[in-house]
Amino acid sequence: MAGRQDHAQDETTVRVELANRSYDIIIGENLLAGAGSYLAAVLTRPRVVIVSDETVAALHLAALQASLDMSGIQSDAIVVPAGESSKNFGQLQSLLDRLLELRVERRDTILALGGGVVGDLAGFAAAILRRGIDFIQLPTTLLAQVDSSVGGKTAINAAQGKNLIGAFYQPRLVLADVTALATLPERELRAGYSEVVKYGLIDDFAFFQWLEENGSQLLAGAPWALRQAVAVCCHAKAAIVGRDEREGGDRALLNLGHTFAHALEAEAGYDGKLLHGEAVSVGLSMAFALSTRLGLCPSQESERLLRHLSAVGLPTSVAQIGLSGLTADVMMNHMRQDKKVADGRLTFILARGIGQAFITNDVAEDAVMDMLQDALAPTSSDRG
Ligand code: NAD
Ligand code: GLY
Repeated sequence: MAGRQDHAQDETTVRVELANRSYDIIIGENLLAGAGSYLAAVLTRPRVVIVSDETVAALHLAALQASLDMSGIQSDAIVVPAGESSKNFGQLQSLLDRLLELRVERRDTILALGGGVVGDLAGFAAAILRRGIDFIQLPTTLLAQVDSSVGGKTAINAAQGKNLIGAFYQPRLVLADVTALATLPERELRAGYSEVVKYGLIDDFAFFQWLEENGSQLLAGAPWALRQAVAVCCHAKAAIVGRDEREGGDRALLNLGHTFAHALEAEAGYDGKLLHGEAVSVGLSMAFALSTRLGLCPSQESERLLRHLSAVGLPTSVAQIGLSGLTADVMMNHMRQDKKVADGRLTFILARGIGQAFITNDVAEDAVMDMLQDALAPTSSDRG
């Protein structure tokens, strides 16, 4: 069995400091194959239920269960359909039904094996089942390893918008196995890369430069580049979550580009055609466009961002994600459902440059509408 000691020197451990809810994020290679020994150290009793999706289960469930068996951990598995459409009430209800049918007890643990969809759905189920049972994140997408598995945001979508029903509920452990990313489709890996870029944009210019130099290796699946990037992002996220778990302040920085992205996803309809990370890439571009329009961010910085996103094949415009008919009014309507709306005012994450993001609710709606009208105007190629 590949055990903890065998990998110790190749791992990076990042601690999320949250008093009695603190936990480790372990980043490394082949961690799922040795999961039993990591889990044994944190489980209250040796019984888990793995929640995964059909695609991930077919690829990684057997190895995980074999490792759990070898560590004497009893496991059952519940498999949900792959994709964003599983983050809904129907799937949540059938997941809770299955967990109760399996007689999951309060001292049992749910393992979320998959991307952000499985992590958000299983995490929310764990938060509300029997008023809360432990859960552990085993993220298998780049997006989940750098963002969604860390920090305890769990949620499902509502007809009115994305992630509107959920809870802050921290996992007991996160095992980010970059080897699992080898089976991830290229488009998914690239989509997750937009969340990686986000960390450079927030407050780490040197990391953005590193990505300009090494992003193509990361996207080619080089384990050293993946490990380094996942570790940098998890360090950054752990620090923010440690000082602002429930998003009273700084944590909103992690939503850079997301008010726009969530509006684009709501418009696209969560049917899997538009990936979250692709929407984030367009959202980041819009956040910088707005910052430049407001005279806050030099245009060269926005252009540098667009150059990098385009160089790695990420979309930077609505036309590239097939939402050419979207109007500024409709987009604004979606944006008003944002969870950061306070007293009816939208909160924006803007930037004075790459690595200099800040939070403000002092943006004139006219300026936002102007930016959206420009961004959503049909181009000559749309008109044919
Ligand atoms: P996802 O979970 O749908 O995974 C993307 C696709 O990749 C799915 O089809 C999945 O089956 C497949 N897949 C996953 N791992 C694989 C692997 N190793 N090999 C092959 N295929 C694999 O999507 P995602 O991009 O991981 O996450 C997006 C979700 O995360 C959104 O719902 C978003 O709202 C949420 N999110 C949450 C947070 C948070 O803090 N909770 C942060 C960011 C995003
Ligand atoms: N993904 C944003 C957050 O966790 O706050």
